[in-house]
Amino acid sequence: MNLNDRIPNNVNLAEDKKLQRALEKWLPNYLDWWREMGPEGFQDKDVWLRTAVDVGSEGWAHFDYVKMPDYRWGIFLEPPQPDAKVGFGDNYGAPAYQEVPGEFRNPLRRIIVTQGDTEPASVEQQRQLGKTCPSLYDLRNLFQVNVEEGRHLWAMVYLLHGYFGRDGRDEADALLERRSGNPDKPRILEAFNQPCDDWLNFFAFTMFTDRDGKYQLSALAESGFEPLARTCKFMLTEEAHHMFVGDTGLNRVVKRTAQLMKQDANEDVRAKGGIPLDIIQRYINFWFSYSLDLFGGEISSNSADFFAAGLKGRFKEQDLYSDHVAGEGTFTLMVVEDGKLSPREVPLRNALNEVLRGEYVKDCEKGLARWNKALADAGLSEQLYLPSTRFHRHLGEYAGHNFDLHGSLISNEEFEQRRSEWLPTIEDREYVRSLMQPVTEPGKIANWIAPPAAGVKGKPFEFEYVRL
Ligand SMILES: [Fe+2]
Ligand SMILES: [Fe+2]
Repeated sequence: MNLNDRIPNNVNLAEDKKLQRALEKWLPNYLDWWREMGPEGFQDKDVWLRTAVDVGSEGWAHFDYVKMPDYRWGIFLEPPQPDAKVGFGDNYGAPAYQEVPGEFRNPLRRIIVTQGDTEPASVEQQRQLGKTCPSLYDLRNLFQVNVEEGRHLWAMVYLLHGYFGRDGRDEADALLERRSGNPDKPRILEAFNQPCDDWLNFFAFTMFTDRDGKYQLSALAESGFEPLARTCKFMLTEEAHHMFVGDTGLNRVVKRTAQLMKQDANEDVRAKGGIPLDIIQRYINFWFSYSLDLFGGEISSNSADFFAAGLKGRFKEQDLYSDHVAGEGTFTLMVVEDGKLSPREVPLRNALNEVLRGEYVKDCEKGLARWNKALADAGLSEQLYLPSTRFHRHLGEYAGHNFDLHGSLISNEEFEQRRSEWLPTIEDREYVRSLMQPVTEPGKIANWIAPPAAGVKGKPFEFEYVRL
């Protein structure tokens, strides 16, 4: 692996001249996109970043100061496994696909494009945040997430260029043309068109939306299309840091809120310049519900087809399940019928989006438990929670109906009446934004958030993570 290559890689790019030329042609377009849509105002600053240099569990990353446009966005796949097999579905046990099987070409391309589209989208959503960072430590973490999402785009573009020929190249170009939130050329998935313009949004996004990424990538890491599986396995290594940023970021906000509540005679956190728990809860409700949509419909023939074809498995398919065909079982879920909720039994394969969503929800609950511990440790009885998975959905069985936070069906009028209790209001967003004054002195931190428990990679919190 040579970091000085234009495109560092462990896929022997130098030996595939055609692919190398195609990617080198895409590279300047990518850099144009990064300069136009990447973090605004910090492109010429030195940032202490980790760069992936290998895929081994030891020392896969190198830390140093880098200007973001000079970041080495490379292509890294986990090494191939000899005798890899399709791990589930109708072709269970057959040799893994090393090339795209003709009959699955379209769905596979769709899966890769949809995943690929989320990566630049999140960079676009977060591009203004640097200007209001609560500390240099947080600023560096934001940029770390941003450059790695850029690398994840590279990972998907490698697959499109390497395995899909002409239409793959066209799709790779289109990934640089769509824009988050743009009404004429939006990003594919709705969560990635929502503004993420303050740091509470950023932490909720990395907690809940990047965590969807973890589950999608985990399901694709099981794929019978081996290049995709190997790509996703390595992406998951980086993804862990993004969720860490979100989880610990929210934890630090909650901890600080609790401290400030304790400092005020009336437990009025606003009087002390912090973020009230009810606003934090509404941000959780917003990003959790949008992120749930990313798993797709509760009852889905696509999910059945992807599984049957061996393209997209379940979370930890090999570790958690013994029946990898899943041709028999059923799954019961609640659906709206004649104006009320009633159970419906569907073939298991048609419910695999819901199965994956269930794993995701369990993972999110662990975050909530950590934050609630921070509240309890501070001597507060308030608790944060996840809303019902039916609440505020825009896709699937529950879209088009209204539910309260407990998942009870309610009327549209009641939902609208209570919307401001449950979802961030304009006033909430303005208040949060009013707190977002940049703090860029090494070792200093904004008033509304607690400092992290530790710095990055053995460096202290006071380290100059970004040279401004
Ligand atoms: Fe990503
Ligand atoms: Fe991510």
